[in-house]
Amino acid sequence: MTPPRKPSRPRHPGPPRGRSGPRRPPPDDPPRRAALDALAAVRERDAYANLALPALLRERRITGRDAALATELGYGTCRAQGLLDAVLGGCVDRPLPEVDGDLLDALRLGTYQLLRTRIPPHAAVASVVDLVRGSRGSATAGFVNAVLRRVGERDEAGWVARLAPPRDEDPVGHLALAHSHPRWIAQAFADALASSGVKPTADELADALAADDDRPLVHLAARPGEVSAEELAAMTGGEPAPYSPYGVHLGDGGDPGELPVVAEHLAHVQDEGSQLVALALAAVPVPGSDARWLDLCAGPGGKAALLGALAGTGGATLDAVERAEHRARLVSGACEGLPVTVHVADGRDSGLPDGGFDRVLVDVPCTGLGALRRRPEARWRRQPDDVAGLVRLQRELALAALCLVRPGGIVGYVTCSPHLAETVGVVTDVVHRTGAEQVDARPYFPGVGRLGDGPAVQLWPHRHGTDAMFCSLLRRTR
Ligand SMILES: C[S@@+](CC[C@H](N)C(=O)[O-])C[C@H]1O[C@@H](n2cnc3c(N)ncnc32)[C@H](O)[C@@H]1O
Repeated sequence: MTPPRKPSRPRHPGPPRGRSGPRRPPPDDPPRRAALDALAAVRERDAYANLALPALLRERRITGRDAALATELGYGTCRAQGLLDAVLGGCVDRPLPEVDGDLLDALRLGTYQLLRTRIPPHAAVASVVDLVRGSRGSATAGFVNAVLRRVGERDEAGWVARLAPPRDEDPVGHLALAHSHPRWIAQAFADALASSGVKPTADELADALAADDDRPLVHLAARPGEVSAEELAAMTGGEPAPYSPYGVHLGDGGDPGELPVVAEHLAHVQDEGSQLVALALAAVPVPGSDARWLDLCAGPGGKAALLGALAGTGGATLDAVERAEHRARLVSGACEGLPVTVHVADGRDSGLPDGGFDRVLVDVPCTGLGALRRRPEARWRRQPDDVAGLVRLQRELALAALCLVRPGGIVGYVTCSPHLAETVGVVTDVVHRTGAEQVDARPYFPGVGRLGDGPAVQLWPHRHGTDAMFCSLLRRTR
């Protein structure tokens, strides 16, 4: 049943009829058209915005300022979707799910331009209205114009004040809307920050949520034994990273995959947090032999490449297990020239010998809540129901890792999520079942501040400039 309409809200015109088709040629606005086409790919085909949009830009030869504008608008609109929809819900005459998908994308893009960019309001509205007129005709363009004018009656702060629960009554709900995150994710961040043993700053949850809207710098890892971080920085024009002795931070722009140093396997693209957790596993002392290393969830191979190179410099070897065949091929490519053997297998039943390894990395599949800044649409695609199934798999993989490591050896349980169920929840359960000893991981993150009470380490984008990697070091005791 169509809900009663408020007369003051702009009415959806429905599909164009009769003579209301295009009156003038489509406007020439390649950046916004590309942003809209990327939004459609995300909505209709579950595409990743950070793959779909660059592909469109390449295909259409959109470069320079136009590419930067398309990226800002495409990614920004994806990230802000929850806030944009809350605002639009107050400005459209029907429930948003009843609005045609392409039209909703256009309304979101216009609302994003109005609330979160410095594009002058008249241009923010006109640019989207023109695009819609070109593709859908004047009646629909009139509807979009009316809705966006209504949106433009307030700025972002005004809409948040009107739509969000009061901050003093419901701080998590307030910040979730203000920073456009699903509430369950904001709550997961709040819980993790509260349990970290680091006294949170007054606005720490806001900082953590805001960091998901930053575009991360590209980080490179120099291949140990081949090139130093200083040499790599000089070769790439980057800066040595603050924490990882192999890390280099690159400036904005360009495709890092095309750098000669990457093509020549002198370095690979890898978040500094991912480097740090792999380095921590490699640094913990193990008594006795230290020749057989294992990566139990290796695809696409960033940590396997770093561990494989480190293993090689010390005369050890690395076995790398990956369940998905195409990802196992990526591991083989990433580890070319290193003493790494790749196995396509389920890590829970890999066929490798129990007790056969001195160090095991288990970098489990997870919600990815620690890398939301890399995936503009991910915060809206992930569902709270995903957590329980992932936790089951994570526990099974961690238990398998503790069988594969020998007594006295070390397992690095790693996940790119701060969600407590995926981090301390899994570790507590596994320690309880196996009697493994939790080693204090903090000394193996030298120079990294604000690590809390231990024994595990939780990194954060807003504290450390890395993805929110979690790392627990577990020693097999029996
Ligand atoms: C978080 S990613 C690992 C990232 C990798 N360590 C790196 O640094 O490039 C998790 C990987 O585990 C794989 N995976 C999922 N279930 C698995 C299983 N049962 N056994 C082995 N690998 C699995 C996924 O395909 C995915 O490639």
